[in-house]
Amino acid sequence: MNFPKVNPTQTNAWHQLESHFQEAKDIGMQQLFAEDSARGASFSIAWKDFYLDYSKNRITKKTLSLLFDLANEVQLKEAIEAQFRGDKINETEQRAVGHTALRNFKKMPLEVSETLDKMKAFSSKIINGSWKGYSGKPITHIVNVGIGGSDLGPDMVCEALKFYKNHLDVRFISNVDGDHVMESLKGLPRETTLFVIVSKTFTTQETLTNAQTIRKWFLQEAHEDAIAKHFVAVSTNLEAVAEFGMEPNNIFPMWDWVGGRFSLWSAVGLTIALSVGYSNFESLLKGAHEMDEHFLRTDFSENIPVVLAMLSVWYNNFYESESECIVPYSQYLSKFVPYLQQGIMESNGKSVDRNGNPIDYQTGTIVWGSTGTNAQHAFFQLIHQGTKLIPTDFIAFKKSLYGNIDHQNKLLANCFAQTEALLQGTLGTDVDSNFKAFEGNKPTNTLLINSLTPESLGSLIALYEHKLFVQGVVWNIFSYDQWGVELGKKLAKGTLAAIEKNELSSISNSATKELIKKIS
Ligand code: F6P
Repeated sequence: MNFPKVNPTQTNAWHQLESHFQEAKDIGMQQLFAEDSARGASFSIAWKDFYLDYSKNRITKKTLSLLFDLANEVQLKEAIEAQFRGDKINETEQRAVGHTALRNFKKMPLEVSETLDKMKAFSSKIINGSWKGYSGKPITHIVNVGIGGSDLGPDMVCEALKFYKNHLDVRFISNVDGDHVMESLKGLPRETTLFVIVSKTFTTQETLTNAQTIRKWFLQEAHEDAIAKHFVAVSTNLEAVAEFGMEPNNIFPMWDWVGGRFSLWSAVGLTIALSVGYSNFESLLKGAHEMDEHFLRTDFSENIPVVLAMLSVWYNNFYESESECIVPYSQYLSKFVPYLQQGIMESNGKSVDRNGNPIDYQTGTIVWGSTGTNAQHAFFQLIHQGTKLIPTDFIAFKKSLYGNIDHQNKLLANCFAQTEALLQGTLGTDVDSNFKAFEGNKPTNTLLINSLTPESLGSLIALYEHKLFVQGVVWNIFSYDQWGVELGKKLAKGTLAAIEKNELSSISNSATKELIKKIS
């Protein structure tokens, strides 16, 4: 079957949503709650350790049913099945999209299970100290060198699972900014540091430059032969890795059917396995697989990624919301939003549909956010009283990991109170000036999860992966390519040549010329 290519705006459901929006847009959520005392319970989904409260949205049962009609008309079910079946749904690159196959232990491709075995054996040697550096001492420090999907996922997960981590000191070098590289290398013991060079393509300028710089820095004290004990690589491009001088045994493969921003489940997650141990890495994968099963097999009305995606479409395309905010009430998730920004915006920032035609409706949402309660003291003012409608996801865990009940109660009280304040505003209370009035009626979702474990984190990440896929299907775009990053990379090559040679004749833009003159 071909991947569906339905223009959502031509569907019956879209037309009905447009007229429904005209009636619904002025309804306040305060009124919906006042009219239905069971609203909190009826607009919720309980699944395993997860509870989703989506009652605080500008929706009625009719809105939901029309949104599901839209999902059906754009053939969402068929699209989901095509992805899980391994069809080449990334048509512009002629590739299948297989990140879910990386975490399905019941039906795992052989090359994936072999790679997991290799990761398991390698990470246990590093962790138990049997792998020695060039001076005979065990490894104490890990440095992950990669960018985009080869950095953001592992970095986010290592931070999120800090509670589960072992003795290894883990760092991440991503930016081609040399100061960042030097700061990250500061104080590193060469004789006990392992560098994990991660690049799907092994052509990425930043990663290759950083890897070369690090290699030179390493060889200031170590002999060339020591490279094999201190450098490993993760890539699809085995030839380029070999050219870099990497030992064949030190190469962990990945495959072109895994997109960079969905690759933390592959050997790209090697640093995660090193940081928290292989069995925690496997639990992360298993948690993601549970969410895959939920997504694949559950009716849309009870399907967490589908419900969240369709709500987001409702705000993006009918209320014309410009952005959505994500606020995890856990400092462990401080890197979750930057990670999701790549996942969501690199996937759905498209303006040509799957038929190759320009699009005349809104697609990819702008995603931003930060952890609560910090965010309350930073940008929440704008969500409460600004002029923009910003649907916000609140993510919280019932139990803290260290069990400090006083802190946990305060953390959760803040989380729940904010969603209520955003909903209710000051309606029904006496306010002595306009400046102190809150209009309320601001949409939020609250995702309450039992506790932050490798499994629940895996499920949470997979949830947002599936959400963005559903949105891409509805918007009739290809979510799994990223041609929009190519032009800048290409231009940077010419710009670099001009800077290096101080030769401006190849630069056509007068502003770029002036900028280059300023640095020469
Ligand atoms: O520039 C974007 C991108 O291609 C991402 O999609 C990818 O995650 C990142 O660059 C890094 O690519 P690589 O892993 O091939 O170095």
